[in-house]
Amino acid sequence: MEPERAVQAPFRRNSAELGSMLLFANTQLNFGYPWWLSYGHLPIVALALALLALGYARKWSRGAMIVLGVLLLWSSAAFVVTRFVMDINGRGTLPTESFLRSGSGRVLDIGAGTGRSSIMVLESRPHSTLVASDLFGDSFEQHFGPGDSPQARLLANLKKAGVEQRATIVTADMRKLPFEAGAFDAIVSAYAVDHLNSEGINQALAEAARVLKPGGDFLLILVGKEPWIQFTFGPLIMHAGTRGPEWWTPRLQNAGFQVVEQGTRPATLYFLARRSSDLVSVPGADRVSP
Ligand SMILES: C[S@@+](CC[C@H](N)C(=O)[O-])C[C@H]1O[C@@H](n2cnc3c(N)ncnc32)[C@H](O)[C@@H]1O
Repeated sequence: MEPERAVQAPFRRNSAELGSMLLFANTQLNFGYPWWLSYGHLPIVALALALLALGYARKWSRGAMIVLGVLLLWSSAAFVVTRFVMDINGRGTLPTESFLRSGSGRVLDIGAGTGRSSIMVLESRPHSTLVASDLFGDSFEQHFGPGDSPQARLLANLKKAGVEQRATIVTADMRKLPFEAGAFDAIVSAYAVDHLNSEGINQALAEAARVLKPGGDFLLILVGKEPWIQFTFGPLIMHAGTRGPEWWTPRLQNAGFQVVEQGTRPATLYFLARRSSDLVSVPGADRVSP
């Protein structure tokens, strides 16, 4: 594993940057999630409108026009929800103000990707520093597409947000973190741990507990299986899966966390968990079905 590397290291600029900046000129940030997560419903809106116009001109049946009208309403509403409510390529906001209430300390972001969760923490907790860790492998490319260098894309966003001085980028597998025990005051992980299989999740949670100080906060943010995501994408985002709080809570407890808050946001399930002072497993928590 690569050692911790300061973000001031020279990186090549991403060739896609100019287009990205034009597309997201309002924020100057490009988190690089695929276009269809924000704009994928627009082609359906256009198609429904075109077919409605054609049907009107050719006097199609009332039933066909109603079906097209419903398609138009759904795709328009789904576009508004994905683009303006979920807003996956826009800045993230902390789902709970209770995370790192002290406002300062050293934070680890597990599965930082292109920096959305790191920037969320660094902007909302301006006295904190943060280590943005990611495997920067196949999963990164699956989510954000090919590019010159994953680290360069992350760095570019940290710079655009003006938080790079408080950030460090580290290449690391969340199942075996290259940090000392108790090295962090708080940990955040957004839409990342849920990409692992059951065994990997248990390893990642145990590693999070190991590198977190006793009493430290762990903000675990996951893709939630809830009405917004069902309404907008149906089965398309499969890793929303069937895992609810009843699946995650015993795993967090078994890893040595106490869940102090749990909630939902559009397309999101989150837990604020606190690291117990001793890492003793909860009896039976490891016997829940995978
Ligand atoms: C959906 S992205 C989330 C990025 C960011 N946290 C956000 O909120 O936008 C998931 C990230 O998890 C990373 N990842 C997947 N498996 C990993 C592993 N075993 N160790 C570290 N990172 C991993 C991927 O590279 C990817 O960047």
